[in-house]
Amino acid sequence: MNPDLCVRIDVSDGVATLTWDMPGRSQNVFNEASLTDFEAAVEQALGDESVTGIIVTSAKKDFIAGADLDAVRTMALSPKDAAKLDATVGELGRVLRRLETGGKPSVAAINGTAMGGGLELALACHHRIVSDHPKLKLGLPEVSLGLLPGAGGTQRLPRMIGVQPSAPLLMEGKRLSAQAMKGLGVVDAVVPSGELLDAARAWLATGPSAIKPWDNKRFKVPGGGMDATEAKQMLMVGTAMLMDKTYGNYPAPLAIMSCLAEGLRVGFDEGLAIEKRYFIKLLMDPRSGSMVNTLFINMQSVSKLAGRPEGVPRFKPTKIGVLGAGLMGAGIAYATAKSGIDVVLLDIDQARADKGKEYSVTRLAKSVKKGRRVQGQMDAILARITPTADYADLAGCELVVEAVFENREIKAKVTQATEAVVGADAIFGSNTSTLPITGLAEASSRPANFIGLHFFSPVERMPLVEIIVGAETSEATLAQSMDYVAAIGKTPIVCQDSRGFYTSRVFGTYVTEGVQMLTEGIKPALIENAGKQTGMPMPPLALADAVGLKLMYSVGVATKADLGDAAPDNPSQPVLQELVVNQGRHGKSNAMGFYDYEGRAKKLWGGLGTHWPVGGSQPGVDEVKRRLLYVQSLEAVRVFEEGLVATAAEVDVGAILGWGFAAWTGGPLSLIDQVGAVDFVAQCDALAEAHGERFRPTSGLREMAASGARFYTV
Ligand code: NAI
Repeated sequence: MNPDLCVRIDVSDGVATLTWDMPGRSQNVFNEASLTDFEAAVEQALGDESVTGIIVTSAKKDFIAGADLDAVRTMALSPKDAAKLDATVGELGRVLRRLETGGKPSVAAINGTAMGGGLELALACHHRIVSDHPKLKLGLPEVSLGLLPGAGGTQRLPRMIGVQPSAPLLMEGKRLSAQAMKGLGVVDAVVPSGELLDAARAWLATGPSAIKPWDNKRFKVPGGGMDATEAKQMLMVGTAMLMDKTYGNYPAPLAIMSCLAEGLRVGFDEGLAIEKRYFIKLLMDPRSGSMVNTLFINMQSVSKLAGRPEGVPRFKPTKIGVLGAGLMGAGIAYATAKSGIDVVLLDIDQARADKGKEYSVTRLAKSVKKGRRVQGQMDAILARITPTADYADLAGCELVVEAVFENREIKAKVTQATEAVVGADAIFGSNTSTLPITGLAEASSRPANFIGLHFFSPVERMPLVEIIVGAETSEATLAQSMDYVAAIGKTPIVCQDSRGFYTSRVFGTYVTEGVQMLTEGIKPALIENAGKQTGMPMPPLALADAVGLKLMYSVGVATKADLGDAAPDNPSQPVLQELVVNQGRHGKSNAMGFYDYEGRAKKLWGGLGTHWPVGGSQPGVDEVKRRLLYVQSLEAVRVFEEGLVATAAEVDVGAILGWGFAAWTGGPLSLIDQVGAVDFVAQCDALAEAHGERFRPTSGLREMAASGARFYTV
């Protein structure tokens, strides 16, 4: 047997078993080598007269994970060449069609998770049997990366189960359990894992047909296909809803909709050709390349701690302290305990500490009620949280997260009280949102162990932690803090100490730009509509209200007090002063901000026009959108060029996970690659002439434009 083969073939008793087992990898993926081997195995099975049936299975834990990361990366970042894509795309689809029409019945024996092309392979088989492993998931996640299932998935699935049941799988990338897929009719049987191959053989022994329903002339799509009223409605309403929700920023769901609308009206092979055409169209779209690059490749490298300092032993946290059981502390305690780590949750008195633990009780009770957890699991998580007001309980904590009031003196006091009881090598991580870490570390007798761990609210839902490295923070402290963040299932990015760190500094420019436009006389409704159309989660003025105008105003006052004349010019401060100090409008918290709030409804405050009169001529919506996005990209470039965040991947992933930067761009730096440095620099120069120096491109960007460089290359 050739040990380099990705797919083995064993023939016995008239059955050819094709086993995917790629050498040197933990998972099976589609790449050139595996596809070549798979095709050879398929041809051998079809050509062998003794073979009457084919089983496709895997020797790995999972079935097939999908496309190979390196191949996807190359495809996403290579210059776009339609003719080349036309020649290369569709190879997997071709092999699958051969297996489907080769005249011998085939069965997918799915032993583990199958994603993307892995599930498409199974759909091409004549039967699907899945192991009952509880963690096994099946899905077509391509849409979340700006792509579509391009190996027949958009055509086979609706022909198997109907248009409407296919929609969430294709257009939202839903991943489901084997049982749920059986309910939908995607899977034929679910069996104990030890019986998988026997069940596959037993099915082949029944002498099944090797002809798919859609290869019969009289085939009709279940549920009436695209002519059914529901399907027509879905097409019309669905397209309108998609446009309403995404402003056309995401090309993939619309392309999938077109594959259904056009592909289901024609024969199967024509349908495949239509799918291929839309797939290539998406591959040519720079937005898909950016999404694949950031949401798949960069996300993986950042989550796998690519920037972790080497040579520091892995840290497996067992006991963590949390100081302050308020909004953030309670959330951090919950996220930590949920990950199987003991937590000591400390506040000024027992009652406040207990209240912090209540947060976990409420969350867990909800998940038990919804059937996501059983009571025993809830009890076990709660048993890990010890609420206390006694510092002695912190003894033995390997790492302590501080989340008390945003006040230097209080933070200094709790740092010293903690260091008096924890071991000499314990790490102290402050969750401060605004105070520089190096300054806070002055209160510590072990500044090498002192670091910033900036969580986002609500902690259990927000996937990012921004780690802040102070002037004296050691590499070991950084590495182990990254291990802790990963241990609680979150993604860390690393930022050097500086005002606003990375996320708040760049995010702030979005809100400030919106406020600046108001002072220029741009209609508030135009600012807000353009904000929505950029794909940011909220328009800038509504976001300012949600963050809190009072909070933003006091941060501005504190910055001015700290830096004096060196404080950067902040055009939003006079506006905030008028609203907060003179008008008593604090934002959403008191139902009065840029908007008036009544229950769930809100409308822009009528007084805005009195204080900031609307000008006679108004810019186009595209210019407003450009300002709102580019101002963030430029600030992200400055952070990157100043060396505060080491990699473009962390800058982009941090923006998307941290403040919901428009995902179709792939992040603020990817956006510049998408536009092209030459055009970006020219457009920013024009914006700088019209609106101020904050739009002036950096010298680094000018060099990139001159040399044709990009943030990401193959
Ligand atoms: P919070 O006011 O909800 O909670 C603070 C808690 O600290 C209170 O329970 C208070 O009793 C306790 N506390 C005060 N002094 C203490 C002491 N000496 N010893 C022990 N406990 C003490 O505040 P929140 O929002 O949880 O913020 C905590 C920290 O997290 C602040 O530094 C804040 O800047 C930062 N942060 C807040 C975010 C947010 O969205 N609220 C986001 C990221 C960071």
